[in-house]
Amino acid sequence: MPRKLILDVDTGTDDAVAIMLAALHPELELVGCTTVNGNVPVEHCTDNTLRVLDHIGRGDIPVFEGLARPLVRPDFPLPRRERDLSGRYHPDTLPVPPTALRKQATGAVEFLIETYRTATEEIALVPVAPLSNIAAALALDPRFVQRVPEVVIMGGAHALGNVTPSAEFNIWADPEAAAMVFAAGFAKITLVPLDATHRALITREHCTELDALGTPAAQAAAAFIGHRIVAHDEHQKQAVPHSTPVHDALAAGSLVAPSLITTRRLHVAVETAGVLTVGRTVIDTHFRGRHAPNCDVAFDADAAGFAALLMRAFAAKA
Ligand code: BDR
Ligand code: CA
Repeated sequence: MPRKLILDVDTGTDDAVAIMLAALHPELELVGCTTVNGNVPVEHCTDNTLRVLDHIGRGDIPVFEGLARPLVRPDFPLPRRERDLSGRYHPDTLPVPPTALRKQATGAVEFLIETYRTATEEIALVPVAPLSNIAAALALDPRFVQRVPEVVIMGGAHALGNVTPSAEFNIWADPEAAAMVFAAGFAKITLVPLDATHRALITREHCTELDALGTPAAQAAAAFIGHRIVAHDEHQKQAVPHSTPVHDALAAGSLVAPSLITTRRLHVAVETAGVLTVGRTVIDTHFRGRHAPNCDVAFDADAAGFAALLMRAFAAKA
């Protein structure tokens, strides 16, 4: 039986690869996508998500639009967009054709609450974006946390930062929401931070291989990842020349191939007050805190296995 999942996205180039992987992999069933303010304004996230699903022939997967801004900080992450950091990795509109598909009338938070209230089978929740929608669901429905069997979060970092020296973008963009999610008491949280995603680099040669597959998904993935490689070569050179992490797709892929990541069970909390450290995932790697571990944190990833997973998934037509 395919594993059911909901992707919470701020589509973006790597979100788009995660969406295509979840929509096309035979062992996954993408129940729906919820969108949130992040890489680009939420209306662009929604439009990009609809375009990508239509492009791969999966316009049947519903898209629900969520929060247009963080829970508490009205100015996040505008400074990032104003600094054009986001634009370098995530154009407002992805290079796939426009679509006649439209978002659902139901909002993302209502969809999340109702779906888990009525679910008869396990559905993994995979947020690969700022956690505003998830925190809003927690605030609106106290039973939500008990109803979600598993959360796989792309976000956070221990030894790295990408939006500040101390923080990763998804957590930084709505730190209060992230703090709520890690403290909520979910039964099973897997965190896929930058420490893991930067060990699963996809190269320009992989993009050439993807493009040669000739399917809409493979060629779109080659374009999205190729865009990221140009940005990384210019602003964040990787250990492997002409390569990029595809953060969100690794998180989604770990659901169908858990061996892609190597995890440690640790306590994670989120800094919301520090001037230099706001949005930092404080990962208690040496058990110095008083808190029991609350999630499985990935510190390593299988780059070859990840590339092979993408090739296999995108070789097939929808
Ligand atoms: C995360 O930030 C976004 O730019 C990506 O989509 C990913 O979810 C990586 O820090
Ligand atoms: Ca994302």
